[in-house]
Amino acid sequence: AEDGYDLWLRYRPLPPAQMKLYGGRASQLVLAADTPTQRATRDELQRGLSGLLGRDIPLTQTVLHDGAIVVGTAASSPLIARLHWDTRNLGSEGYLIRSAVIDGHAATAIVGNSDIGALYGAFRFLRLLQTGQHIDRLDLHDAPHLTLRVLDHWDYLNGQVERGYAGASIWDWWKLPDWRDPRYTDYARANASIGINGSVLNDVAGGATILTPTYLQKVAALADVFRPYGIRVYLSIRFSAPIEIGGLKTADPLDPQVRAWWRAKADEIYRLIPDFGGFLVKANSEGQPGPADYGRTHADGANVLADALAPHGGVVMWRAFVYSQANPEDRAKQAYDAFKPLDGQFRANVLVQVKNGPIDFQPREPFHPLFGAMPKTPLMMEFEITKEYLGFATHLVYLGPVYEEVLSSDTMTHGKGSTVAKVIDGSLEGHRLTGMAGDANIGTDRDWCGSDFNQANWYVFGRLAWNPSQSSRTIAEEWVRMTFSNDDAFVKPVVDMMMGSREAAVDYMTPLGLVHLMGPGHHYGPAPWDASEAEADWRPVYYHRADKQGIGFDRTRSGSDAAAQYAPPVAAQFSDIQQTPERFLLYFHHVPWDYRMRSGQTLWYELVAHYAQGVEDVKRMRETWRGLHGYVDEQRYQQTASFLAIQEKEAQWWRDACIAYFQSISGQPLPPGYAPPE
Ligand code: GCU
Repeated sequence: AEDGYDLWLRYRPLPPAQMKLYGGRASQLVLAADTPTQRATRDELQRGLSGLLGRDIPLTQTVLHDGAIVVGTAASSPLIARLHWDTRNLGSEGYLIRSAVIDGHAATAIVGNSDIGALYGAFRFLRLLQTGQHIDRLDLHDAPHLTLRVLDHWDYLNGQVERGYAGASIWDWWKLPDWRDPRYTDYARANASIGINGSVLNDVAGGATILTPTYLQKVAALADVFRPYGIRVYLSIRFSAPIEIGGLKTADPLDPQVRAWWRAKADEIYRLIPDFGGFLVKANSEGQPGPADYGRTHADGANVLADALAPHGGVVMWRAFVYSQANPEDRAKQAYDAFKPLDGQFRANVLVQVKNGPIDFQPREPFHPLFGAMPKTPLMMEFEITKEYLGFATHLVYLGPVYEEVLSSDTMTHGKGSTVAKVIDGSLEGHRLTGMAGDANIGTDRDWCGSDFNQANWYVFGRLAWNPSQSSRTIAEEWVRMTFSNDDAFVKPVVDMMMGSREAAVDYMTPLGLVHLMGPGHHYGPAPWDASEAEADWRPVYYHRADKQGIGFDRTRSGSDAAAQYAPPVAAQFSDIQQTPERFLLYFHHVPWDYRMRSGQTLWYELVAHYAQGVEDVKRMRETWRGLHGYVDEQRYQQTASFLAIQEKEAQWWRDACIAYFQSISGQPLPPGYAPPE
């Protein structure tokens, strides 16, 4: 049965014509298999090629005839050494794939400066076959643009996954370290295939237990499984761990005993895991302990950890997602206020990890104002892959356009072209330590992600972390070809459907710059009316601010002035209602219901039209999918069809609830011709 377990690494037999085309180019495999990574590379190529081509490819020591695939590094392969290729610009993780003549025979060489580079090259080579590309006359080279390409698992030690909609945690802490589930290897393969090189195993709000000797043994076992695939393990730590498991009276980062405790803990970890990646920290946010508990800054907090990790080459990823309900300031402003003044105070091995937008992974938000605002500090992007605010497991929402929209946003901090992507990849401000994190959507479901299409979000995250300037459409197409079919009659409509899916969700959930209309707590479905007493400042009514006159959050000078946190040209644009892109209108402005939109319609009519459009779009997605019956196996076809039906039902729920609620506030009539819900 096609249960999605194989993700995009399905390796099913290619159509005969393609098989024939490739056959002559894959007659033997020449690679050393002396290291764990080389063996992983060999296994993947054998598995992939035999699956795709329907026959085993022999492993040989030398090139015997045309069609050899020679893989490795100049150090591991005399054949590659003799090519004398210039690999200096590949770094330690890049690769070259070239057609060449080796020992008088036509061959393909896959070359890295390290075994990991060669492994990445092997996955790229397989992808060429999977996506139906030519493999003669190859001359490809690629290398990652970012140093750290990391999945953040929001997994608790009890197996629960924070905002996870694909089952329980795949880490079976009870059976580790002795039982190493083969699934861990498949997880590593999938990540390596898209260049992910780090995994933070546990949730940022977990306890201190993960740092106890018993659990560190388990962590070490996972690190052993991942190592051949170039994946380092990281841990989220609880800032008060020195108290909870260290027996100290304080976790004050400036206390000498605390500093010594972290140093000793880091030494202990590196004895077990010599290539341990480092720590991820959520401090003084949503109830987590942190340096502010002792009157210290985020920099003090990050630096004590950084000093402990530095001798071993580890890093600290310190999250900027901080806000407090005790702070009367607009939530959108709080992270910037807290971190901007600390620029220049962090150790060299600290990255500040910033969510893509200033609120919280909404269907649409402007880019976070910290990007470009802390030039002395490497800022790491944090995207959410799990669809906390985008319909959980079932809604088909491809997140590539969400990521691309943010990465291509222009911060204007160094003039035009200062995109978020250039902040993240270090090129704008000259940082060598760079990174991107994605809050994983992985769980114990057979298909890993809760639906086949959710796998695309894991995929596009990895591909953009490798190179944040890529197009999300190109990546979607790659994924569709690998996951479903190379048939253009299928690929084109499915890619179009994916590319439009995000705007559909924005329309039926939070159009025109609205945010956080979801039911508080669970975030499933609409609750724009919610104004309950508890946490009153953080309820949907706080965000949309609808009243008899209009709707929207005034973030200009007459309001919270959050717009002023952006670079002057951007701030000027967002502060001026005429210049603000309509997709952000209600994020920055409180706008009268009868305000004339660019279309000539009133805001109220246009709001209704967006909600209606969102539902229409989902209807069209269902039709598209219906027309593709037969291109996909029955199991995956039916599940997607059923999930799209759920999505349509829930899109209607969103539309009807939001229109009814906002109408009760605005008192405006429905537009003529608008069909009320059946
Ligand atoms: C959101 C999310 C939480 C998560 C938090 C975070 O608020 O709802 O579940 O823990 O983000 O990123 O820390």
